[in-house]
Amino acid sequence: MTGPGQVLISEEQIQQRIGELAEEITRDYTGKDVVLVGVLKGAFMLMSDIARQIKLPAEFDFMAVSSYGSATRTSGVVRILKDLDHEITDRNVLLIEDIIDSGLTLNYLLKYLAGRNPRSLEVCAFLRKTGIQQVDLDVRYTGFEIPPDFVIGYGLDHDQRFRNLPYLALLDQ
Ligand code: IMP
Ligand code: MG
Repeated sequence: MTGPGQVLISEEQIQQRIGELAEEITRDYTGKDVVLVGVLKGAFMLMSDIARQIKLPAEFDFMAVSSYGSATRTSGVVRILKDLDHEITDRNVLLIEDIIDSGLTLNYLLKYLAGRNPRSLEVCAFLRKTGIQQVDLDVRYTGFEIPPDFVIGYGLDHDQRFRNLPYLALLDQ
């Protein structure tokens, strides 16, 4: 049965790191008006945990994109399933992403959002897989660097399952 294997990052480790990221974000954006843009579905956990820990009068918006079917490798094709509800012109945008694998999804999203003329555009990614990015990306806030294995939990799915695990695990196939 496909399911969670070895735990890579525990719930406690995740929550501690999010506290640190939230502090950094609070410091960097104090006095600025910020819009957090979460990328559905994978970033919903990170978005809600960050939301509760930052001490900023932030606004929230979401986009939904699809980059994979049920396969565990990137197709390189990004489809926008849900666009922003509000304009971001002249706003400070912080894009909240679950994971940077090939980097193609984020690369596409950054170009797309930059085209809407935000005042600033930065990225907070929960995970970054090391050594396999196909594009050079400037990521301001990263939760954890992990090896390039397929992982599940804390928002990340395999075939739409396991997103609700409060920890990060390897996928056992
Ligand atoms: P990229 O375009 O290759 O960087 O892939 C980004 C998207 O693929 C992420 O937003 C995830 O939804 C998905 N993804 C990449 N690696 C994993 C993984 O290890 N587990 C679950 N989803 C993943
Ligand atoms: Mg996915």
